[in-house]
Amino acid sequence: MEARFSTTPHSEGIGAEISGLDLSVPLDDEDLMNLKTVFGKFRLLVFRKQSLTPLQQVRFSQYFGKLEDFPDPKDQADGFKTVLRVTNIDKITGSIKPVDDPGHRSFTLGTSSWHIDSSFRTIPSLASALYAIEVPKSGGETMFADTTLAYETLSFEEVEGLKTLTVIHDFEETRRRHGLPPRPPEVQAATPPAHHPLVAKRPNGKHALFVGSHAAGIEGMPYHEARKLLDHLERHVSRPEYTYKHDWRAGDLIFFDNISVLHQAMPYDLVGSRRLLHRTTVAGVTPLERAN
Ligand code: SIN
Repeated sequence: MEARFSTTPHSEGIGAEISGLDLSVPLDDEDLMNLKTVFGKFRLLVFRKQSLTPLQQVRFSQYFGKLEDFPDPKDQADGFKTVLRVTNIDKITGSIKPVDDPGHRSFTLGTSSWHIDSSFRTIPSLASALYAIEVPKSGGETMFADTTLAYETLSFEEVEGLKTLTVIHDFEETRRRHGLPPRPPEVQAATPPAHHPLVAKRPNGKHALFVGSHAAGIEGMPYHEARKLLDHLERHVSRPEYTYKHDWRAGDLIFFDNISVLHQAMPYDLVGSRRLLHRTTVAGVTPLERAN
């Protein structure tokens, strides 16, 4: 059935813009089916001029699966456990947080690296939605990189060498790389390192490189060698032809595949500009399948 919304692929890089859908109201079965097909094809969809309450964002995101909880009440939007405030604005006072606030600093540094949300989980998260409420006049864009497209340009020899590898994702690696102190052992124990195939096979038969800042090593490989390979892959996937830079306007929602798309927040004036996005994340259901 022909879609009742329009899909405009981005002229450069990855993803597509969807127009003609108001996400604040329930989608009918036909629109949803067409949207899922388009999402499978583009892996990153931009919806402009939306006006969404947290509940409406939750309803939209839940069309794609069960949502993950964010346990800390100070990170939750309007008491919704499944809606994370991605922001430099203090929830209680409404003013800009001090840049040296440790939680704020580690979150800002963490999201400024190319990453896959929660790739250190044994069952990786499937997708995330970011919805912009307040945005800086300049900076604070989000960059996205499509590792499926990047994978498809690797040579046969390179791909064969990567398929057998298992990558270890550890949240502590991101902290180490930013010079942040380790978290207390009991906190680390709650999110132990997870082992994933470096090349994942997706349900649609496509492949994805499961890398990003939490990638801390490769099974059976010395650390410095693994770091060199992971850094090389990160440089490859972040080439302009596989990336899209989103310059936020309030009311934008981006829904992206969190297995095959890496993302990274760009710098902005953390002291003088306000930035508030709401994030919902669709939980995974199975461990990643290794490409063969
Ligand atoms: C995130 O990674 O959760 C947020 C990305 C952003 O702030 O642009």
